[in-house]
Amino acid sequence: MKSNRRNFLKVSGLAGIGLAGGAGIMSGNAGAPDGEQTVYPCSLQQGGKHFNMSGYAAPKIETVRIGFVGLGNRGPGAVNRMSRIDGVEIKALCDVRPDRAEKVKKSLEKTKHRPDLYTAGENDWKKMCERKDLDLIYIATPWKLHAPMAVYAMEQGKHAASEVPAAVTLEECWQLVETSEKTKKHCMILENCCYDFFELMTLNMARQGFFGEIVHTEGAYIHHLLDSNFDKDGYYDMWRLKENLRNGSLYPTHGLGPIAQVLNINRGDRMDYLVSVSSNDFMMGETARELAAKDDFYKPYVNKTFRGNMNTTTIRTVNGKTLMVQHDVTSPRPYSRIHLVSGTKGTALKYPEPRISTNHEGWIGQDELKVLEEKYAPPIVTRVGEMAKQIGGHGGMDFLMDWRLIDCLRNGIPLDIDVYDAAAWSAVAPLSEASVANRSKTVDIPDFTSGSWKTNSPVDVTLAKGGNTKVLISAR
Ligand SMILES: NC(=O)c1ccc[n+]([C@@H]2O[C@H](COP(=O)([O-])OP(=O)(O)OC[C@H]3O[C@@H](n4cnc5c(N)ncnc54)[C@H](O)[C@@H]3O)[C@@H](O)[C@H]2O)c1
Repeated sequence: MKSNRRNFLKVSGLAGIGLAGGAGIMSGNAGAPDGEQTVYPCSLQQGGKHFNMSGYAAPKIETVRIGFVGLGNRGPGAVNRMSRIDGVEIKALCDVRPDRAEKVKKSLEKTKHRPDLYTAGENDWKKMCERKDLDLIYIATPWKLHAPMAVYAMEQGKHAASEVPAAVTLEECWQLVETSEKTKKHCMILENCCYDFFELMTLNMARQGFFGEIVHTEGAYIHHLLDSNFDKDGYYDMWRLKENLRNGSLYPTHGLGPIAQVLNINRGDRMDYLVSVSSNDFMMGETARELAAKDDFYKPYVNKTFRGNMNTTTIRTVNGKTLMVQHDVTSPRPYSRIHLVSGTKGTALKYPEPRISTNHEGWIGQDELKVLEEKYAPPIVTRVGEMAKQIGGHGGMDFLMDWRLIDCLRNGIPLDIDVYDAAAWSAVAPLSEASVANRSKTVDIPDFTSGSWKTNSPVDVTLAKGGNTKVLISAR
């Protein structure tokens, strides 16, 4: 795929980049002496004409006909949630494991949905995408399949919604952007954490100036997945353990998405560059050795170089704001996405307990917090929040996300999360790998919007348009 936006510039000091699949152009540079100039993909030179998908309103779709691919741990919940939204028809289910698809089909027996199954091998999802009677492909497969599936879906005239991250290489990020612009099909990254209640509240507070000028934000994915990653019956074909052989911030978007929205990234500001630092691995290699001593299944994972357990990535924006994103899925720590918003007039922090402050003396009390929660609950929460909690999915945020996606498609209004967000948020993983592999050197973050970030409108939190899609609480 050629584009004059994807110019390959020489950036000094970035040597030996180990980008996974980085457009194939990276391979020749691996192992270059430190300090030498290295060919590196960068979009600092713009000027390529593009159709701007930010703020793009696709034609209204009265009934959104969905095909799902990937029905492992995550996919079935999405099917269940979508079956509870008016104006949705679940027409197709795809998984390489037939029993997974059959089980989900069975769960829909008491609903109006009668999906066809696509289970004839690892490429049957293409047949599903080629159907003429689908509007949206919903992707919940292992990471490596997200971008190929989203690109193919858009090429077949379908909107694509992909689980996080939307891509694992920079090349894939660009493919998503270029395909979405070319086909005028949406490509949403399903970043459910943008729809969690505290995150939505702080986004609304930021819009209304509560924090003053926002200076610094923090997000994270700190989630003890050591046991699940090594569980033979956990992820399909041990895909998630294998991903941990890359070294960087592999799963940045749960922490990054909400703070990027608060900072209007791609809509008034842009992530400019990052530096990324990883610790050593002190747990995964040892776990592999311990398990392999009792079970040959684990022998292939012995003496492998696993991801450093804690990765810290710091990003600076063009407007001079900072974002810190951490990734740790091995330490036995309580779960945290941090979600810190720090401004000239106020601060919010979600973990370990939601807190707000307006001065240096301490956090406001629970009663005051309740008042703020009511005052700053955005319209999506007042309209659908309680029903979302009943239906569930990480406490309701998954349902809010799915409902908003369908409501936007049905009303022909722009999505909250577009292809530039999908690309920029996902790109932090391969870019952090590049920085980590180069003694944490600075890495430029491409401008996937090709300059449109300067004029793109912020995410609409008002529900001024749409908001009329009904929720079918008892769809069974
Ligand atoms: N947003 C969230 O909160 C959240 C939570 C959990 C998982 N996820 C994401 O969801 C995705 C899936 O995760 P999971 O935990 O369900 O993994 P999983 O391994 O349980 O499920 C993946 C499914 O994809 C299927 N699959 C693999 N190759 C396929 C192919 N070629 N064609 C069709 N189906 C194929 C597998 O059979 C499996 O059922 C991942 O991207 C993960 O990061 C997101």
